[in-house]
Amino acid sequence: MLYPLFLTLHLFAALIFIGTVFFEVLFLESIRKQLPVKVMLLVEQGIGRRARTLVPWVLLVLFGAGAGMVWLRYLPTLATPLASSFGTLLMLKITVAVSVLLHFLAAMYLFRSDRMTARYLHFIHASLFCHMIVIVLLAKGMFYLAW
Ligand code: HEM
Repeated sequence: MLYPLFLTLHLFAALIFIGTVFFEVLFLESIRKQLPVKVMLLVEQGIGRRARTLVPWVLLVLFGAGAGMVWLRYLPTLATPLASSFGTLLMLKITVAVSVLLHFLAAMYLFRSDRMTARYLHFIHASLFCHMIVIVLLAKGMFYLAW
């Protein structure tokens, strides 16, 4: 009964996180060109404040539930990840997820130390966007690709 709970939490956290990244890249970047600079700054500050309080919790649930599922079902698979296509893709997915976590920690550090610039933020968003596409393809590929 615990596994379906972890999976549901993982899915909800994933859709909030992926949705946030997609919103930032697909909506905010285009809205930026239509709004005066000062208004955009206020919008971004508001969204940034909200994201900085919500996203850490979302990541905690996402990674906690992911680790819970591995612990319950996939530890033997991950002990020899190259022995199966599922294990290989899951290992790749976890590696990409760790890179996502590093992006988040770097962003928090840059914000806290007042070193975040529009250039850094743009790079982090674009990179996370690519990470999300790879992670979703790996997450589904684990179940549908086999060699
Ligand atoms: C940015 C981080 C992550 C994202 C966006 C993400 C997203 C996803 C998505 C969309 C699925 C597919 C669920 C489904 O369709 O049933 C999935 C499955 C899975 N994820 Fe993650 N994940 C992330 C991190 C992790 C981590 C860190 C772990 C393990 C430590 C993990 C372990 C798993 C496992 C074991 C499954 C298969 C669940 C199943 O269907 O039995 N994930 N993930």
